Amino acid sequence: MTDPGAPRERTRGGQDPAVDTATSTDQDRPQAQFVSPTAALEAKAAVGPQPSGPAVMELREVSVFYNDYEAVRGTNMPIAANQITAMIGPSGCGKSTILRALNRMNDLIPGARVSGTVTYNGQDIYAPEVDPIQVRRRVGMVFQKPNPFPKSIYDNVAYGLRINGIKGKLDDQVEEALTGAALWDEVKDKLKTSGLALSGGQQQRLCIARAIAVKPDVILMDEPCSALDPIATGRIEDLMRELTETFTIVIVTHNMQQAARVSHHTAFFTAEVDDKQVRYGRLVEFNDTEKIFTKPANPITERYISGRFG
Ligand SMILES: Nc1ncnc2c1ncn2[C@@H]1O[C@H](COP(=O)(O)OP(=O)(O)OP(=O)(O)O)[C@@H](O)[C@H]1O
Ligand SMILES: [Mg+2]
Repeated sequence: MTDPGAPRERTRGGQDPAVDTATSTDQDRPQAQFVSPTAALEAKAAVGPQPSGPAVMELREVSVFYNDYEAVRGTNMPIAANQITAMIGPSGCGKSTILRALNRMNDLIPGARVSGTVTYNGQDIYAPEVDPIQVRRRVGMVFQKPNPFPKSIYDNVAYGLRINGIKGKLDDQVEEALTGAALWDEVKDKLKTSGLALSGGQQQRLCIARAIAVKPDVILMDEPCSALDPIATGRIEDLMRELTETFTIVIVTHNMQQAARVSHHTAFFTAEVDDKQVRYGRLVEFNDTEKIFTKPANPITERYISGRFG
């Protein structure tokens, strides 16, 4: 890297047939060696705000394009280890786009490309030698709509372990993941029934179990509670807090109370119109959640959190 501060642009073809871990194994692809998590302590941001703890990931001058359209521009923010970072902002401001940039899920979208730098433990995850499958092993994802596979509860959780060739006793690892996702007690007597037969909230916890089974470091969640009732939402929020003992979480949410309740840091994005009348998203303010919700530095943030726009 010659000039780490300079935005760099690389075109992603968008077609990455090996991207779905469901169809790939680690054995037959080049292994990207990510630096050890302790290196995160040294990996200080060159620019942008700092979280209170060490950053496990960093975005520096990150812009995401869909073909010629620059959807989100110049994003600088850290992702603090073992904490919850929330991304909030009005529809279309680029929250999901930035979330996907954190584990190269944008590679799956034809025409999508990322400029700037995204690091994981100090290493550029878009560097040519880095395998996106390895990135997604360490930076997992849970989607808005619970999406269990049409398989048994057991097989849903065992799936990633099997295809990644993860060693160890499968039964124990499945139990550990389901326990970690606060679902074990509810499903331990029906592990062979379909994951699709569970309630929406249970399905989402099953998806969380599936994500944590392969032991990622970071879990990305895009509006994980938007299809759930308040009780199921409360359970997922409790679970998120528990998960930070082991994992780092980044959550996109439309629910500002949820961001205020669960997150340590909040990034507020908004959509603006540039001088060519093109609408684009940008990060307005990043700070400790308490500050964002009690004393935001930017009047736009203040207007949004007080419900006066968006
Ligand atoms: N696959 C895509 N192809 C082209 N443009 C896209 C694509 N996905 C998102 N965009 C555009 O990028 C911008 C940001 O979209 P994004 O989905 O990231 O917003 P968001 O903040 O997650 O919105 P919401 O709150 O509605 O989910 C929007 O203008 C959107 O139309
Ligand atoms: Mg979205």
